[in-house]
Amino acid sequence: MSERTTALVTGANKGIGYEIAAGLGALGWSVGVGARDDGRREAAVERLRAAGADAFGVPLDVTDDASVTAAAQLIEERAGRLDVLVNNAGITGGLPQEPTRVDPADIRTVVETNVIGIVRVTNAMLPLLRRSASPRIVNMSSSVGSLTRQSGTATETTTGPVAAAYAPSKTFLNAVTVQYARELRDTDILINLGCPGFVATDLNGFRGVRTPEQGAAIAIELATLPDDGPTGGFFEDAGVVPW
Ligand SMILES: NC(=O)c1ccc[n+]([C@@H]2O[C@H](COP(=O)([O-])OP(=O)(O)OC[C@H]3O[C@@H](n4cnc5c(N)ncnc54)[C@H](OP(=O)(O)O)[C@@H]3O)[C@@H](O)[C@H]2O)c1
Repeated sequence: MSERTTALVTGANKGIGYEIAAGLGALGWSVGVGARDDGRREAAVERLRAAGADAFGVPLDVTDDASVTAAAQLIEERAGRLDVLVNNAGITGGLPQEPTRVDPADIRTVVETNVIGIVRVTNAMLPLLRRSASPRIVNMSSSVGSLTRQSGTATETTTGPVAAAYAPSKTFLNAVTVQYARELRDTDILINLGCPGFVATDLNGFRGVRTPEQGAAIAIELATLPDDGPTGGFFEDAGVVPW
């Protein structure tokens, strides 16, 4: 079994996921770069290695059972276990997404990646995570999944545009994560949700105001929680995000 702490970051070829991989690599960890496109994955692995990280490519489409099974096998062969899983891959499904006009198929597509994809990857990796002394799972959510913030007045707390697929997919993810935390409460596994803030990436046409590195910070914090750290929580840099 590998001596090094081993992490897997999904959707690590660009944006926040790439910076999470870079941040974990800078800790001296071995980092699996989960990405579905061969060229984009290998380019990211090369960049991370050039920066001194022990990065390795993990072909991974979170919507594909066979791909996720193969990813778990690859990590088992390479490291024998997994210490940290960061479920970062996500899509918006395209905006605008008004509930009164949305194509139901678009909701299904977003949930398939942002929720079911995370369940698929997490359950495939759990046998490897259970072999770790301090397993951590970080699910990248968004404050747009906060019902409290979504139901504030526009000038007060409402965050993000009206969206029938993306925002509810994060609310769904939050709810599923709480259920994992309940089931895993008597294990060493800590599972939490992180919100990166509004980050300039492909996801929003680079309209965000934070850098991907800033967005990655909360995931790195949750990936490195001490054994007595929280589980089943929802956090941003400033602290707890209301449900
Ligand atoms: N940017 C923000 O302001 C913001 C705010 C709150 C939360 N978030 C969350 O942060 C996470 C990262 O977002 P980002 O802003 O960094 O977006 P991004 O730059 O668009 O990156 C998304 C990543 O997810 C990957 N991905 C999408 N579908 C996938 C699939 N089926 N299988 C594997 N990988 C897949 C993409 O791969 P490809 O390159 O192959 O498409 C890409 O690597 C997402 O969960 C997002 O919801 C972002």
